[in-house]
Amino acid sequence: MADPDDLDGDGISGRMRRVRDPESGQLRLGRFGWKASQASVRHQVASALNTDLGVMTSTFPAPDCGPMQMDCGASGAELPDEHLDTLTTYVSLLGVRARRGLTDPEALAGEALFADSGCLACHVNTFTTTPYHPHAELRNQTIHPYTDLMLHDMGPGLASTLNEADAGGGEWRTAPLWGIGLTAGVSGGEAYLHDGRARNLEEAILWHGGEAEESKQAFVALTAAQRSAVIMFLKTL
Ligand code: HEC
Repeated sequence: MADPDDLDGDGISGRMRRVRDPESGQLRLGRFGWKASQASVRHQVASALNTDLGVMTSTFPAPDCGPMQMDCGASGAELPDEHLDTLTTYVSLLGVRARRGLTDPEALAGEALFADSGCLACHVNTFTTTPYHPHAELRNQTIHPYTDLMLHDMGPGLASTLNEADAGGGEWRTAPLWGIGLTAGVSGGEAYLHDGRARNLEEAILWHGGEAEESKQAFVALTAAQRSAVIMFLKTL
């Protein structure tokens, strides 16, 4: 799905982020994190332990000092590998709730409008998982994540100053939309996009720019009833 030079001329140039697997040293597709910075669930968990919680593991045995500190303590795993493995297994096997409202005419109309507005160009709905996943229950599964896992330039309105080595300020991995309709119930409130600035789904769509500008304009051009059908569809995911 990567099309970095927009060879198909649709104005959307998804870019694959290659990141180094901290354990094998191999370059792999970045799949997790707002900027697709982590290659695997284990990489994501070890990185969150280190940078969000200050807990070192064999995967990231050095303390996360930040740019202003020269020395912030000794290196060495604090959490045994056994616990990192258990956490990784737990997170890998969390289920995704089934879609709801499958016979709701408004939601189904919204699903068609989601496709007509070009949202599927990035929020790709269907994949089959590989036959090689370490967990047998995750092999050959049809899944509906609504993401292409690619980085897209979303324009200056969504750009942050926190650049990463090889991802620009305005580049974000397409946010997966599965489960998004359960946000309010699970989180006790709504806050979308990478910094939580959007107070509802409509605001999240209206912040789209850059490669998603045309698609956003297609959404804006819908009638009020059609826009609420799109939102109704998103709430069934
Ligand atoms: C060019 C690719 C692209 C297109 C086209 C696109 N999106 Fe997105 N979408 C993204 C990216 C990237 C993000 C994450 C942006 C961020 O967090 O700053 C996102 C985020 C979202 C979110 C918020 C998700 C969350 O968890 O916070 C919603 C809702 C959404 N898109 C809906 C839509 C709808 C509806 C359309 C069609 C009108 C659409 N998108 C078209 C790339 C795209």
